[in-house]
Amino acid sequence: MPERLPRIFVTRQIPPTHLQRLQREADCVIWPGQLPPSRADLLAGVAGCDGILSLISDRIDAAVFEAAGPQLKVVSNYAVGVNNIDLAEAARRGVAVGNTPDVLTDATADIAVALLLAAARRLQASGDSVRQGEWKTWEPTGWLGCDLVGRTLGIVGLGRIGAAVARRLVGGWGMRLLYSSRSDKRIEGLETARRVTLDELLAESDFVSLHTDLTEETRGLIDARRLALMKPTAVLVNTSRGGVIDQSALVEALRGGRPLAAGLDVTDPEPLPPDHPLVTLPNCIILPHIGSATVATRDAMAEICVDNLLAGLAGQPLRCPCS
Ligand code: GLV
Repeated sequence: MPERLPRIFVTRQIPPTHLQRLQREADCVIWPGQLPPSRADLLAGVAGCDGILSLISDRIDAAVFEAAGPQLKVVSNYAVGVNNIDLAEAARRGVAVGNTPDVLTDATADIAVALLLAAARRLQASGDSVRQGEWKTWEPTGWLGCDLVGRTLGIVGLGRIGAAVARRLVGGWGMRLLYSSRSDKRIEGLETARRVTLDELLAESDFVSLHTDLTEETRGLIDARRLALMKPTAVLVNTSRGGVIDQSALVEALRGGRPLAAGLDVTDPEPLPPDHPLVTLPNCIILPHIGSATVATRDAMAEICVDNLLAGLAGQPLRCPCS
């Protein structure tokens, strides 16, 4: 009897080149929908699989490991963040988990800077006024925003992406850098950075950019009390995970004009309903979670994802293990 090919459930179409490499080595079932598989479809799809290629919208928890069965060797997340995966449960069952760090750092940092600029200079609301035919003339006091040069940037979580954002804004706009982090960081090019508490960072920064993982400790980290510490002229940017901000508190804070504006690439849930106040507030810009969305980045993520899967199936260390 020929040995059976390993079976993989791929929860969405990803860039094809690397998927084809996987298909040569494994029997792949690729979820055809544009939307994620429902919970029932996910549980049915993983049954009997040796590997799962998951996205951040797929909750990979004990029920999924159970539905897959004891032969499951590896889960490869098409993302750097793995808050959708129960890592403790994976470890308990001896299932390797991989992610896609580094390759998306620059693309995501670019989106954080784009959001920061867009929120500071009111690009969405002012651009909408042109589209809607409301713009009548150049106005001396119309659409005033805030400057970046020489202002204070606060980075919450000075990891790879936080540091890349800081490099852009410190190097390009001469910003003074504060950061909050579990430990002291010494990063080339960012030697002048000052580590402060989160409360100090929020109170002193003109621009705050969130780059922390979503964990039980960071869920709702930016709550009403902390938002009230921010300057009324400050801009808040989030490219990490929506759950890091208490969104109801943010709605109230933006309505009260403190902070002045927000730029969000992530929300909870994704997408927000179109009538959610954050979607309609003029001082909030929301993007559809496009931090890593460049052709080259998504391709590089696919390459790592497939490498992780193939290594895991072969019982070898993953190229990018999460644990
Ligand atoms: C996207 O949010 C990722 O974690 O890669």
